[in-house]
Amino acid sequence: MRCFLVAAAVMAAVSASPKPQDMEIDMIIAAPDPVITGAPVGVAEQLVTYDVASASAMVVAAVLDDAEAADAEADATDAAITDATVTDAARMVKRTACAPQPAGATGAPAVSSDTPSAFSANPAFAAIANAAPVPLGYALSFQNLKASNNAYAYLGFNTLSAYNTTLCAAKCSAKTGCLSFNLYFERDPSVTPGPGCEDPPSYTMIKCVYWGGPVTTANALNQGQFRSKFHVVIAGSNGYNYNGLPNVPGYITQSIGNASINAPYDSQGCDTYITSTIIEGAPFDPANCAAACYRQSIYNLDHPPKDGPPKTCQFFNTYLVYVNTTANMQGQYCALYSEAWPTSYATNFGQYRGNDHYLIESSYTYTNETNPGVPDQACAVAEAAAQISYSKLQLFCMAYLGLAVPTATATTTVVATVTSISTSTVHIDDSPQKRAVDVPNDLQKYPSSVLSSACSLKVPFTVTTTATSSTTTTVATTTTTSTTTYAETTP
Ligand SMILES: *[C@@H]1O[C@H](CO)[C@@H](O)[C@H](O)[C@H]1NC(C)=O
Ligand SMILES: *[C@@H]1O[C@H](CO)[C@@H](O)[C@H](O)[C@H]1NC(C)=O
Ligand SMILES: *[C@@H]1O[C@H](CO)[C@@H](O)[C@H](O)[C@H]1NC(C)=O
Ligand SMILES: *[C@@H]1O[C@H](CO)[C@@H](O)[C@H](O)[C@H]1NC(C)=O
Repeated sequence: MRCFLVAAAVMAAVSASPKPQDMEIDMIIAAPDPVITGAPVGVAEQLVTYDVASASAMVVAAVLDDAEAADAEADATDAAITDATVTDAARMVKRTACAPQPAGATGAPAVSSDTPSAFSANPAFAAIANAAPVPLGYALSFQNLKASNNAYAYLGFNTLSAYNTTLCAAKCSAKTGCLSFNLYFERDPSVTPGPGCEDPPSYTMIKCVYWGGPVTTANALNQGQFRSKFHVVIAGSNGYNYNGLPNVPGYITQSIGNASINAPYDSQGCDTYITSTIIEGAPFDPANCAAACYRQSIYNLDHPPKDGPPKTCQFFNTYLVYVNTTANMQGQYCALYSEAWPTSYATNFGQYRGNDHYLIESSYTYTNETNPGVPDQACAVAEAAAQISYSKLQLFCMAYLGLAVPTATATTTVVATVTSISTSTVHIDDSPQKRAVDVPNDLQKYPSSVLSSACSLKVPFTVTTTATSSTTTTVATTTTTSTTTYAETTP
């Protein structure tokens, strides 16, 4: 028996999300692909341990960018990856040819003749797989396949003396991070195949394999292998997924299936999305996102923005992301928000990047049970004010507030040289204008109270228009470029 820890990698989004909250595909691609492995042939069991504390520390570190977090990440990486190479699995099955292999299951039914085809077609295996009870707390995913899984986050296996779904489920439930299991009969060699014993007699093993993500027909891809001339084949393969809600203390959990949350602005116009991160290789564990959410709040409170209130994380959406098929799992995605959103906003069912279809499964939302967040007017005013500056909408604001709107009067002086420059002045109309104004698209999400407050922050201001005219007399063309700049003054 060998023991190794699960290696996990974490990436955090570097940029704020666009609207809507598409998955940050660049971040998913940048993270290393998780190592997907399966139960090796030639050993009786393999113990893989998932270290929750290390995984949480890594996720927390990845969503933050302060020095303290960088230290935490370094420590966590050291802890989580110690001894954690899958080559251990490869090394341990490298045995001398003709050496005895672990004995077969005492409770396995006999096979009519010792051939791969008789094994695959053995009606007794099919009968047992088809009659196996679905253990409490699990749902049947597939039944009686001739392949085992390459699912997400391999957590080791045990060999059992009998095909017992209840026992395999109990072992999974006792294992930190285990969310599914695959139970099957496998035709294994009785001695290590090699020179002198290329195709030895077989033993029937019953393997109970644990995973930290769902087992599906789509990721049941391992149909066996050749070892020298011995054909390893699989029969009676059943897959079961944990069917309870993966609850996290302090949060209300909801399952949203195969979609992610695509939140609108809140009723005040505040963007409630904070950031996102991806965890690769560790079992799917919403507690890791909760740790990131909690730590992000502390960080944001400690580093408030210069304009507007800090956003604390009161809600998150976490799910598994895969490309094309569930056999190509990319990792566990976490998106953090300052306010809770109902499941009706679970509308992102996947995205394309080129030909690659990024899809979602096992998606859950988590709402802080004491404080789900409320529509945030201070946040909306700050974001509206920033938008006004960015889109140069100060003139709109003056009109919106019923103030006199400055108008520019351009005067151009053409002199008999090739180029001349003249500067026009800006006149403020004497008569205040009170007219209906069209609210620009960018600002339509804000209620009038928010818009008035944001506009008030952006006026008064001064406007200077500089017009540059160049006249080329020979071809009689005149080009006029004018630049309007706004200098905001603090009211
Ligand atoms: C399966 O295993 C469970 C748990 O160890 C045990 O209680 C039960 O008797 C076993 N079932 C069979 C049919 O052997
Ligand atoms: C829920 O939110 C409150 C207020 O922001 C916070 O103090 C508390 O730690 C949060 N709960 C969890 C489980 O993070
Ligand atoms: C979610 O996706 C999985 C994997 O493709 C599929 O088996 C399952 O039926 C889907 N569930 C829903 C509710 O669409
Ligand atoms: C996903 O499927 C598309 C279309 O079948 C294919 O072109 C692409 O290479 C696949 N991507 C991966 C990562 O397998």
